[in-house]
Amino acid sequence: MSLVVGVGLRAGTSYAELRDLVHRVVTGEVHLVVTIEGRETEPAVQQLADELGAELRTFSKAELAEQPAPTPSEQVDQLSGIPSVAEAAVLATGAHLVTPKQRTANATVATGHLPAPGYEEVERAVVHRVIAERRDVRRGFLDVPIDDELLTRVLEAAHRAPSVGLSQPWDFLLIRERTTRQKVHALAMQQRDAFAASLPADRRTAFDGLKIEAILDTPLNIAVTCDPGRGGRHVLGRHADPRTTWFSAAIAIQNLWLAARAEGLGVGWVSFFGPQEVADVLGLPAHVELVGYLCVGYVDEFAAAPELVRSGWAKRRPLSWAVHQEEWGRRDSSIVEDALHAAQEAVPATGQRVHVIVGGAASDLGRPDVLVVDLREERPEQDFGVLWRPARTPAEAEEYGVEIARDLALQGVGQLDVQVAAGSVVAEALAAGLRTGASACGLSHSSA
Ligand SMILES: Cc1cc2nc3c(=O)[nH]c(=O)nc-3n(C[C@H](O)[C@H](O)[C@H](O)COP(=O)(O)O)c2cc1C
Repeated sequence: MSLVVGVGLRAGTSYAELRDLVHRVVTGEVHLVVTIEGRETEPAVQQLADELGAELRTFSKAELAEQPAPTPSEQVDQLSGIPSVAEAAVLATGAHLVTPKQRTANATVATGHLPAPGYEEVERAVVHRVIAERRDVRRGFLDVPIDDELLTRVLEAAHRAPSVGLSQPWDFLLIRERTTRQKVHALAMQQRDAFAASLPADRRTAFDGLKIEAILDTPLNIAVTCDPGRGGRHVLGRHADPRTTWFSAAIAIQNLWLAARAEGLGVGWVSFFGPQEVADVLGLPAHVELVGYLCVGYVDEFAAAPELVRSGWAKRRPLSWAVHQEEWGRRDSSIVEDALHAAQEAVPATGQRVHVIVGGAASDLGRPDVLVVDLREERPEQDFGVLWRPARTPAEAEEYGVEIARDLALQGVGQLDVQVAAGSVVAEALAAGLRTGASACGLSHSSA
């Protein structure tokens, strides 16, 4: 961080007076000394800049007058028409003030920090572009071997990822052998069938049209693994939350994905297998776990939107739903009110019918179209048919209801049957929220 010293002084102020004032607040290296136009010829200012080895810069009266000086000085204002030369000069550089203004009879000094510079606009645009244009690719791969240098660049990007305590828990197993890929592919097909069998009929038809992997269509598969013990006993930051090790490996994959996109290389992440099944096929040591299985190859083009969006399977969640201010649920606008407004203009949706049982239990999950909302305080056993929403107040329950309906709509649900199993104020509020959320998204709904 670069330090800036702003100086205001009367003509003829001695260097000793100015130096002592500056030394009250400055200990480290100074990047800039700034003052008002005309004062740069003052010997004290020139000597200060020389002694500090800092660049000397000036601002016009008009530029300084625009700055919101926090401790304005009436006297300076009267003399020069600006509120405070020292502070205003620091602010004019773009720095943030860090110490209160210091003064002697003839001089004032303020200090500030210049933030590290961000990238230029065109460079920022590239960063945002690669983030927006990264795609999970499953189709259109070319049967062309991947250039070694390019692959090294991509792996280098992955290997630069942040990791808890710099433990770097990842490894990258490069798989080109077709026989190995065939074995992994067979596992994915089994899991595909199992998932298809778990779906209600209408959803299953939509799923049948989706491609979920490109294991045999790509010249290279990469198994990204995690060694949860890497770094030994005292990995900084891991002791309280061991999941951070897996987060680190996942971030490495994102780095790889972005770098690959920039190189014109398609990447598709396949998770249609139990991690141990793949570990067995690949002969991974027992202490190493699979995090992601990636299909990698050159492609003709990258789609503008996710395949699941283009196929109508799912939609992107708006950022405004995901951002909470200071406390959970406090969004920039109330999601219940938003939903009530949206309901007036909602376009009727089509899609899967889901039967939501509010306050139900896992034993209600007989049919594949049932989703249980469990309101109890104790965490239920993990089951994707059970949404655990231990709402603390009816208002919170209503919001959860709105959100659940909206999230289901994003996942291709078109109709909701709402049933309240356990009669309570909270359950009724959640059911009311479900109905509001459903109306907002154009879902037809009924109460059972
Ligand atoms: C952890 C993880 C697992 C994924 N597993 C699969 C998968 O098994 N099959 C698949 O087709 N896509 C898979 N994807 C890709 C997502 O469907 C995809 O990222 C999402 O639809 C958004 O599309 P986009 O990546 O093109 O923006 C996976 C993505 C992640 C992050």
